[in-house]
Amino acid sequence: MPKLSQWKFGIDFERIGWLTIDTPSAPVNVLSTTAILELEKLVARFEDLAASDELVGVVLLSSKGSGFIAGADITEFDDLSDPVEMTKALRRAHALFDRIERLPIPFVSGIHGFCLGGGLELALATHYRIAVNNDKTRIGFPEVKLGIFPGFGGTGRSMNVMGPVPAMQIMLTGKYLRAGAARGMGLVDKLVRHRDQLRWEARKAILQKRKSKPAGFTKRVMAMGPLRKFIADKMRATVKKKVRPEHYPAPFSLIELFEDKGNDPVAMRAGEIERFPKLMDSGTAANLRRLFFLSEGLKKQGVRKPPKPKFARVHVIGAGVMGGDIAAWCAYRGLAVTLQDLDMERIQPALDRAKKLFKKRLKKPIAVNAAMARLEADVAGKGAARADVIIEAVVENLEIKQKIFAQVESVAKPGAVLATNTSSIELERIAEDLKDPSRLVGLHFFNPVAQLPLVEVVRSKVNSDLAIRTGCSFASFIGKSPVVVKSAPGFLVNRVLMPYLLKSIERVEAGEAQELLDAAAVAFGMPMGPIELMDVVGLDVGHSVANELGQPVAEDSKFARLLAQGNLGRKTGRGFYRWTKGRAEKGSVPEHSNLAELGRELVQPLVDECEVCVKEGIVSSADMADIGVILGTGFAPFLGGPLKARQDGKA
Ligand code: 3HC
Repeated sequence: MPKLSQWKFGIDFERIGWLTIDTPSAPVNVLSTTAILELEKLVARFEDLAASDELVGVVLLSSKGSGFIAGADITEFDDLSDPVEMTKALRRAHALFDRIERLPIPFVSGIHGFCLGGGLELALATHYRIAVNNDKTRIGFPEVKLGIFPGFGGTGRSMNVMGPVPAMQIMLTGKYLRAGAARGMGLVDKLVRHRDQLRWEARKAILQKRKSKPAGFTKRVMAMGPLRKFIADKMRATVKKKVRPEHYPAPFSLIELFEDKGNDPVAMRAGEIERFPKLMDSGTAANLRRLFFLSEGLKKQGVRKPPKPKFARVHVIGAGVMGGDIAAWCAYRGLAVTLQDLDMERIQPALDRAKKLFKKRLKKPIAVNAAMARLEADVAGKGAARADVIIEAVVENLEIKQKIFAQVESVAKPGAVLATNTSSIELERIAEDLKDPSRLVGLHFFNPVAQLPLVEVVRSKVNSDLAIRTGCSFASFIGKSPVVVKSAPGFLVNRVLMPYLLKSIERVEAGEAQELLDAAAVAFGMPMGPIELMDVVGLDVGHSVANELGQPVAEDSKFARLLAQGNLGRKTGRGFYRWTKGRAEKGSVPEHSNLAELGRELVQPLVDECEVCVKEGIVSSADMADIGVILGTGFAPFLGGPLKARQDGKA
């Protein structure tokens, strides 16, 4: 046997080969260059052993609890971005996967946990796939999120077993499938209930020489003849609603490849090699990779050394929009939550909204009911004494907050996190009367809580490191991304957003068309224009943040008039725009020679303020500013964030 660092291999008495991937010193398995080189040697050995009848089949398993394989090794991508090197690496991987497919003996993959990207492509090159049918199994192609598309033959092979349309859908969206869905769509051939059943089921598959079946004719027909062009156009139109080809070329390149070669899975695979290197070499891919690693870094801000905090119960005080939605989110994520307010009338709307969220996300009545059972109205505030995390989200009034925390501190468990969702009051002042003011951290969520991934973990002058780390651990635990910010007006996101919004509004007041400015910001790469965003945030909220930042709205402005009339934006049906069914009614966009350049001009105040925030230590680094602003405002991820964009001369 060759010397192996990434794989283990042994043959049992039935002549079945057991191949296990185990990436050294890493929590997840990845297909690094070394792993591919070692696999080449292994496959050569399998070919010999099969020819001499010493091997009747091979089973591929993972030795890691985290899952099967998380894809190609992203840490190597920077070195491989040179198109010539990349082409060579792809050719090699394709040749290897083709040899696996051609092996004369059955090759079976046993999948648990994450099976992503190149990992799924390897599984697809094997002859039969068995997956554990539990909540942890996630199967998919996340490549588009890295500015590329599957490059180890996954395009053609997934189309072969799933049919072209479902395969394109999962590649274009990067969505992960659970085991049941993957089985239903043909990506997986067999399900087992427990990981320890994989070996037995795989053994049976080998001995019975089971083989995955290609998708039926009714599925394959969708890629034939003129139908393919029609489907490609539809896909292009759908993707264009979300992203622009000049910003995110990968999905469009994949659709072109499908349009060109989608009727022939082998040609589709070959086409990957032609297109993939160019995508990998793009600024978009480099920036999206950087964001992946920055996001990974956010997870590391939590408590690293034991004892690690445990989060089972959360108590939320204040059942308004923010408090209610934070409580609902925590219950959705599996925590037991008590929600306190003065009476049931105040709590009930939050419970109703929570039910809507659970129905939308969890779908199955049993799961919805279980989530509802985890969310308990608690007028008496009894939950505070049992909670691991207590979050206050009441009105922005210092005395009320001080009173709440004085009371909460007297009943809270010793290690419990005390957190406020304040967006404007200094933490030091709220913590003034606490026996241990170092405990109080800010956890600043964004509205709508269920959709926005960022939580600003606000650090006061007196916070202990442990309190901040515990706050970060909690944010990560509930699936949010923590960015630590200094306790100062507007923290990071509101602080950088406001000058951009207010300057854009000034331009509208000076006579420029709001439709033009909004279209320009979107052409630059923002998810929504500044005027529309102000309507979505709410003019009342914008007004109070502007005051807090010392940039009050002029009294004789359109903004002030709209406010006085109660036209607060989307929520009242009228703001800078009229709103119908949650959509802004927009007029046509006036002609402009360079919309993207105008958009770039509009975002300058945001980028300038980011630089100030870094200088003032609001965040610890330019990287943190970039990831925080992307997560909090949606700032053009393909540009890598405001400061990276400025560094690259793009903003
Ligand atoms: N390459 C390199 N490192 C990876 C990796 C990958 N594909 N996937 C995960 N890691 C690393 C993380 O950076 C992290 O490293 P660290 O401990 O040094 O910080 C470690 O593995 C653990 O990851 P997480 O903390 O993120 O673990 P989670 O359990 O929270 O998440 C995960 C696991 C869902 C697998 C997540 O890590 C993830 O999304 N990984 C990326 C998956 C991906 O994009 N795969 C496609 C790669 S591109 C490809 O395959 C191209 C091919 O088509 C040619």
